[in-house]
Amino acid sequence: MRRFSTLLSALLIAAAIHEARWAAASCRRAKSDPVRPHSVSITEFGAVGDGVTLNTKAFQNAIFYLHSFADKGGAQLFVPAGKWLTGSFSLISHLTLSLDKDAVILGSTDPSDWPIVDPLPSYGQGKDLPRGRHQSLIFGSHLTDVVITGGNGTVDGQGGVWWEWARNHILNFTRPHLVELMHSTGVVISDLTFKNSPFWAIHPVYCSQVLIQNITILAAPDSPNTDGIDPDSSCNVCIKDCYISTGDDLIVVKSGWDDHGGAATARPSFNITITQITGSGGGGITLGSETSSGGISDIRADGLRLSNSKSGIAIRAAATGGGYIRNILISGVTMTNVETAFVITGGGGGGGLAELPLVKSITIRDVVGENIKQAGIVEGIEGGSLRDICFSNIALNNVKSEPPWRCSYSEGYSDRVSPEPCPPLRNPIPINSSVCYWLDRRRRAQPLNGSHLISALVEFAPFAG
Ligand SMILES: *[C@@H]1O[C@H](CO)[C@@H](O)[C@H](O)[C@H]1NC(C)=O
Ligand SMILES: *[C@@H]1O[C@H](CO)[C@@H](O)[C@H](O)[C@H]1NC(C)=O
Ligand SMILES: *[C@@H]1O[C@H](CO)[C@@H](O)[C@H](O)[C@H]1NC(C)=O
Ligand SMILES: *[C@@H]1O[C@H](CO)[C@@H](O)[C@H](O)[C@H]1NC(C)=O
Ligand SMILES: *[C@@H]1O[C@H](CO)[C@@H](O)[C@H](O)[C@H]1NC(C)=O
Ligand SMILES: *[C@@H]1O[C@H](CO)[C@@H](O)[C@H](O)[C@H]1NC(C)=O
Repeated sequence: MRRFSTLLSALLIAAAIHEARWAAASCRRAKSDPVRPHSVSITEFGAVGDGVTLNTKAFQNAIFYLHSFADKGGAQLFVPAGKWLTGSFSLISHLTLSLDKDAVILGSTDPSDWPIVDPLPSYGQGKDLPRGRHQSLIFGSHLTDVVITGGNGTVDGQGGVWWEWARNHILNFTRPHLVELMHSTGVVISDLTFKNSPFWAIHPVYCSQVLIQNITILAAPDSPNTDGIDPDSSCNVCIKDCYISTGDDLIVVKSGWDDHGGAATARPSFNITITQITGSGGGGITLGSETSSGGISDIRADGLRLSNSKSGIAIRAAATGGGYIRNILISGVTMTNVETAFVITGGGGGGGLAELPLVKSITIRDVVGENIKQAGIVEGIEGGSLRDICFSNIALNNVKSEPPWRCSYSEGYSDRVSPEPCPPLRNPIPINSSVCYWLDRRRRAQPLNGSHLISALVEFAPFAG
């Protein structure tokens, strides 16, 4: 009895420490978006919504005019029903860009309507080509308090032409995003559909306090590099209630690119919550492989429904080192038609970090998978670069590969995982929340099998908000 109560209090303490640690990371939307005392329509600036007239000047002039309201509670730029062809334009602080439900902002198919900007300091060069890159359709830098929203209005990048130029290697500069915000804080992107991005759709970089909620992102399954949402060297980000179907990763957290500038800029990504995401596409949820600008930590993802992808959950440390991925909790996942359910790879040492584990304290739990080719690839490098990897309550059915797991230089724990992981990952899970993360004591106490889990997922409660 005495032993039992000691164990119980150790458990409760461990759980309390764990909850305190994560409780700070809430993912709640403000009761309402900021009310803007002043509002104008894009038509007041000569815009024509016929899908043919180029409206770049109208967007630029409207936003220039709205500057004067920034210190008076901010302003709203309304885009009514219609097809509004435009090149790249830049937002300002304290602005709401609001689309009508039947409004479509169409990206110009003339590359000269997308000006060239410098490569990001943490990338050193463009991703497609070494020199500069095209500015995103909707751009902003050094902003605070910006909202991009609408009743499911559409931003359509008409990326088909860019995909062809990329495939035929006739780009002159790296392709643009639909939305890129740099060095900004207090950003909300909600209630919209983003289609056919030339490259990654939404790219917050060097940002904090970002909420992305209730959006749809669509691109052809074979479109090159059309990631959905890429939080990059950013912190305090929440992504929730989104549907994403693209040609590449649905959501991918990054922090700078290899030795092109990542290490010098030292801007990690941390405190990112990803919850209630449904999607299908080339990759599922990925951390890395760009991790050189400090690394990636304190990421929580839950309520994920993933299908038709090469990987379900992928965690990839940079090939050239200089970064880490740690303190990750991913739970409540269903996967269907996925080639490899879990990919966890740790690159080389380098960057003076050779002696440290690069990938550490990763918990993946409560996952069901159907029609999975390979259960997991967990590959570190000699010297123990992958440590404290925890898998719990995972049922992958109809796994085709033999062996189902492939592992090297990795060490971890598991509990109720089928098919059974490689021997180095079979240590019993320690009752210690600083190694493996737990969400909910009650659910943990009930061993769940696959059929239980599916009903448990329906009422899956995100940890906060
Ligand atoms: C999601 O967006 C749609 C419009 O696209 C809106 O009708 C709905 O109320 C939004 N849902 C939430 C939870 O905000
Ligand atoms: C928004 O529009 C997209 C594309 O038309 C559609 O797939 C999606 O269901 C819509 N979302 C809402 C919340 O109405
Ligand atoms: C590349 O540059 C050439 C020469 O200026 C131009 O004709 C062509 O349209 C450009 N192509 C792209 C995809 O930007
Ligand atoms: C984590 O990010 C959320 C925004 O998603 C923010 O509200 C919260 O304060 C952040 N937590 C910490 C410890 O900074
Ligand atoms: C958990 O592990 C940490 C670090 O290894 C150790 O300091 C601590 O005493 C452990 N706690 C319990 C409850 O076992
Ligand atoms: C899983 O749970 C269901 C529902 O309680 C039960 O009928 C089934 O026998 C269990 N399967 C296994 C393998 O334990």
